[in-house]
Amino acid sequence: MDTMIYFFTGTGNSLKVAKDIAEKLMFCELIPIAKVWQRANVESTSDNVGFIFPLYYSGLPKIVYDFIEKIDLTKSKYFFTVVTSAGDITDLPLQQIEKLLKVKTKSLNAGFMINMPNNYIIGYDIHSEKRQKEFFESEKAQVEKIVDIIKNKKSNVNQDIFKKDLTRAERFNAKFRKDVNDSDKNFYIDENCSNCGICELICPVNNIILVDGIPKWQHRCQQCLACINFCPERSIQFGKGTLKTQRYHHPDIRIQDISSQKIKNSL
Ligand SMILES: Cc1cc2nc3c(=O)[nH]c(=O)nc-3n(C[C@H](O)[C@H](O)[C@H](O)COP(=O)(O)O)c2cc1C
Repeated sequence: MDTMIYFFTGTGNSLKVAKDIAEKLMFCELIPIAKVWQRANVESTSDNVGFIFPLYYSGLPKIVYDFIEKIDLTKSKYFFTVVTSAGDITDLPLQQIEKLLKVKTKSLNAGFMINMPNNYIIGYDIHSEKRQKEFFESEKAQVEKIVDIIKNKKSNVNQDIFKKDLTRAERFNAKFRKDVNDSDKNFYIDENCSNCGICELICPVNNIILVDGIPKWQHRCQQCLACINFCPERSIQFGKGTLKTQRYHHPDIRIQDISSQKIKNSL
């Protein structure tokens, strides 16, 4: 295998990008981080390694941070990352990955951010349909350029970004990562729950179990928001804000695509 792409996704944006890139590369394997992150040893065996995931609180999701810290990259030489966000452009995720790679005497060769529709409905409402379509069109064009860079093993990383003082953003993201597992205490269901079990099925880290048909969150949440965005009855809420916000997931990505990224029956 030439390239191994490790991805994480809650609502499909990052998976769509990962699939589109993988399709255009020869000999590329897509590996869900949620499937391998708890293994004692994870080793990449390809020359090229990519990390594709959503931006959370200006930086890396906790699961992605912990995974990159853990993975053995000894055999790999070329590293790239693609971060999807709902509008923010920041160098923090690239800086964080570079630091994690440095410990392994490796370095980030290429880094990209792609703006996609917002899934952070516990903070902001979703983008309009028109805006979503614009993001999807632009994603296609960006993927072409990204693939060209990766195929030719070019570097696009200006080393100056690693010298930038991003301490405030790093603190913001570090606090999120510290608290995120327990943040699920804010989830609840309203009277519309039909006990369908999609929330349990879809959670990439098996954080939801149904007790008498009612979802119970197990405090190892990554806040990917798959449960709340895919709930067909819009019954899952987070605090009061989501009573008003709409729901989002990438239109090409199905429940099965999200649920297949996890370890089955791990509870
Ligand atoms: C917990 C959380 C935090 C987020 N933080 C940011 C952020 O700081 N800046 C931003 O532009 N988007 C933020 N977003 C939006 C997502 O990065 C964006 O919608 C992403 O494309 C979702 O990817 P996915 O569909 O693969 O899960 C956040 C989303 C979540 C769930």
